[in-house]
Amino acid sequence: MDTRIEPINDIAHYLTAQATKPLLRFITCGSVDDGKSSLIGRMLYESKQIFDDQLGALESESKRYGTQGERIDFALLVDGLQAEREQGITIDVAYRFFATDRRRFIVADTPGHEQYTRNMATGASTAALAVILIDARKGVLTQTRRHSRIVAMMGIRQIVLAVNKMDLVDYDEATFHAIVADYCAFAAPLGLTSVTAIPLSALEGDNVVTNSPNTRWYSGPALLELLETVPLDERDETAPFRLPVQWVNRPNLDFRGYCGRVASGRVTPGQRVRVLPSGVETTVRAIVTFEGEREVALAGDSITLTLADEVDVSRGDVLADAGAAPEVADQFEARLLWMAEHPLLPGRSYTAKLHCKEVEAIVTEIKYREDVNSGAQLAAKSLGLNEIAVVNLSLARTVAFDPYAKNRTLGGFILIDKLTQETVGAGMIDFALRRAANIHWQALTVNQSARATAKNQQPLCLWFTGLSGSGKSTLSNLLEKRLHAEGRHTYLLDGDNVRHGLNRDLGFTEEDRVENIRRVAEVAKLMVDAGLIVLVSFISPYRAERRLARSLFEPGEFVEVFVDTPLEECERRDTKGLYAQARRGEIKNFTGIDSDYEAPDTPEVRLLTAERSAEDCVAELAQRVLAAQWLSPEYQI
Ligand code: ADX
Repeated sequence: MDTRIEPINDIAHYLTAQATKPLLRFITCGSVDDGKSSLIGRMLYESKQIFDDQLGALESESKRYGTQGERIDFALLVDGLQAEREQGITIDVAYRFFATDRRRFIVADTPGHEQYTRNMATGASTAALAVILIDARKGVLTQTRRHSRIVAMMGIRQIVLAVNKMDLVDYDEATFHAIVADYCAFAAPLGLTSVTAIPLSALEGDNVVTNSPNTRWYSGPALLELLETVPLDERDETAPFRLPVQWVNRPNLDFRGYCGRVASGRVTPGQRVRVLPSGVETTVRAIVTFEGEREVALAGDSITLTLADEVDVSRGDVLADAGAAPEVADQFEARLLWMAEHPLLPGRSYTAKLHCKEVEAIVTEIKYREDVNSGAQLAAKSLGLNEIAVVNLSLARTVAFDPYAKNRTLGGFILIDKLTQETVGAGMIDFALRRAANIHWQALTVNQSARATAKNQQPLCLWFTGLSGSGKSTLSNLLEKRLHAEGRHTYLLDGDNVRHGLNRDLGFTEEDRVENIRRVAEVAKLMVDAGLIVLVSFISPYRAERRLARSLFEPGEFVEVFVDTPLEECERRDTKGLYAQARRGEIKNFTGIDSDYEAPDTPEVRLLTAERSAEDCVAELAQRVLAAQWLSPEYQI
């Protein structure tokens, strides 16, 4: 026998044995210095998942970076990155894999720092169990409560309360019981009723893998034993079938397959399925996988389905059991965890990613924010980092969904910042709101084109943006005068004026400005629909809202005019005396002083007012408008 083949056979055998063992996915949560990394490191070490050479490296590195003197610092196993080691913190979600004779484990190790809640939510979204670490000397902290709330919100029901550092409180039974009572009183109302508490010391190894003689008063299992025996989330084959379509595979004209991961239930050839949101029904022809056709596929399987009929299915649609299809809606009540430094602003448009579908989304209302400690419902106009709220969410298109409590895949979503592409929120749908869904578009016989023809003009929105005092009002005023003289039907929406009426309830905070622009954009849209040439003259300091305004119009209907006057010039003019007041601190959130102005990157027109007279600028601009002629982008005047 060829000896070189033997170890390969062994490995193959080993891998097969591993692959058939049941799998538990769990997450560990703790504050900084709770000993989380040490705990995971010890489990890896004791379950013999470290190879000898790694162990050698660990011993020498422990001496260099470790915080444990001559002993092995198990945290170093887990705090993988060099930079983290040097700072002594863990900064990423690290998925660790280990196995015992009975089970395989994937553990999401997430950092304890407050700013890293995002990673925690990511780790929690796929976990069946959470190990919540508590420092026995400190007890339940705000961070413990925050983590528990997120874990509960993410649908994890099994909690292991790991009361660590028992060695530092002399293995005191009363201390342990007090912490457990405190925690359970907090956790029960969140629905976290399955809590198993273990007194342990990750450092000394007490109750991590085997029961410790130091806690004779404790009769429960050691941590690893518990993880090996907790009930697993079995694949529920009776749940209704759901397949979010990840992509449509069309290698040639004869084959069209719909690929994705079965989110729940089971599917077989011949089964009736419904395509959502369209609602069309058809039959599954075959289940195709890498290994050939299959008779059945279950939750968690990645498959390609072919269908009996030529139906229209695209990425982001859902194939579902025809008899128990998910709902379809575009407005929801949802719970939201905000994960970005920059606040969530109602009215601002984000991209929502719900299973495989990406769609534009706006939080229309924050119903309340939840206090992480007490759960009290607080009023809020915006949401800061790590805050949790119940919100109303409005999507630009209908999507297929299930409430998160029923199906994590079809009820969970993330919000993405459109400019930075960063994930800024994680949400869970509670239920659909029957609002706009019940209000249908009324077909009007007299339409925009009829109104425009009657006025003998091309409707247009000219959107002037720029600093206060940049000359927006002067220029838009002059332009309207000229257009009017030429017989055009116009209207000028000016910030100062609109703020006296429609927007009199709004101030100058970031969230109020977002709403200010949203409303005026909608009004401008109606006016363009009425066939008018609308001039909008608002500072409109944020790119996101100008982009939203633009999105309401047809191509060519929206002309962004950047009144590009330098701040120094605006301040020198200071026609209203507001800059002086802002500099004295009498006005807060003044644009350009202590509130941002995000200049347009590619406006259709850039007016360099410092270089030419207002009359000259307007004469050229008017000529362009009358000829409906734009050199796009960035025509400089
Ligand atoms: S926007 O930022 O929300 O678009 P808008 O154009 O409606 O502002 O209103 C700006 C006008 O309000 C300014 O021209 C100025 O006269 C006045 N104003 C009062 N307070 C402020 C402030 N803090 N920042 C900017 N403008 C202010």
